[in-house]
Amino acid sequence: MGREILDGVLSLVNDVSKGKAYMALPEHIAIIMDGNGRWAQQRGLPRIAGHQQGVSTVRKVVEECSRLGIGYLTLYAFSSENWARPDDEVQSLMSLLGQYLGTELPLLVEHQIRFRVIGDLEKLPQAIRESLNETIERTQHNRGLTLTLALSYGARDELLRAVKAVAEEVSCGKYFIADIDEERFSEHLDTKGTPDPDLLIRTSGEMRISNFLLWQMAYTELYFCSCFWPDFDAAELKAALDDYESRSRRFGTVSS
Ligand code: IPE
Ligand code: IPE
Ligand code: MG
Repeated sequence: MGREILDGVLSLVNDVSKGKAYMALPEHIAIIMDGNGRWAQQRGLPRIAGHQQGVSTVRKVVEECSRLGIGYLTLYAFSSENWARPDDEVQSLMSLLGQYLGTELPLLVEHQIRFRVIGDLEKLPQAIRESLNETIERTQHNRGLTLTLALSYGARDELLRAVKAVAEEVSCGKYFIADIDEERFSEHLDTKGTPDPDLLIRTSGEMRISNFLLWQMAYTELYFCSCFWPDFDAAELKAALDDYESRSRRFGTVSS
């Protein structure tokens, strides 16, 4: 028995030193996928070419997170502010999203990935909403990685919708103002049932949150890398995970 435990520990140490396993893997990774436009611009291509390349990065990163055994991956794909981009870019992004949803199901099923979405979906075109619902439904019983796309998502909008829903429940006598606590409030957020992100990655060198998961990221570790999203790959993800592993998360207390 002692020998088996020792062998197990030695094999784990070996895996860790070879980069195959991590001592502290985030349960939930959130990513602000930024820099598609600049990636394209650097190559003299239209911005949409960067978004197209960005979709292949999504595919690779989803597969890698699933392979590593990450529990939750939340990708910021389209913000509430992105609606203010030129019409042709918004339309191209919507049609890329439609294509992605139309082709991705077999991969999600193969890897047992559960698909979810957060954001103000009412604003999305009807056909996209239908595809989203179908993908959510067909993957709801999957037991692997939970992949959440943030679409037409803004944290301030999400918080306001939650405040209104809570106010509504108070006004119809479901509970009192004094009963509103963090747990009850969180249940009215789009991310209900999902643990808070442990690690946020933002690509493209920008160091800001851009209205993403403001409530949920109270204690998230932030990681910024300079590469544009279309260039992000398994090696970049590994660098982020290595960095995460070196962090000391104290949550306001003191190190043990
Ligand atoms: C991120 O890339 C994708 C979306 C916001 C939809 P950008 O389109 O923001 O690319 P940059 O930041 O302009 O380079
Ligand atoms: C954040 O990127 C939104 C997404 C990645 C979907 P933006 O490019 O829209 O953010 P800003 O404008 O640089 O803050
Ligand atoms: Mg950007």
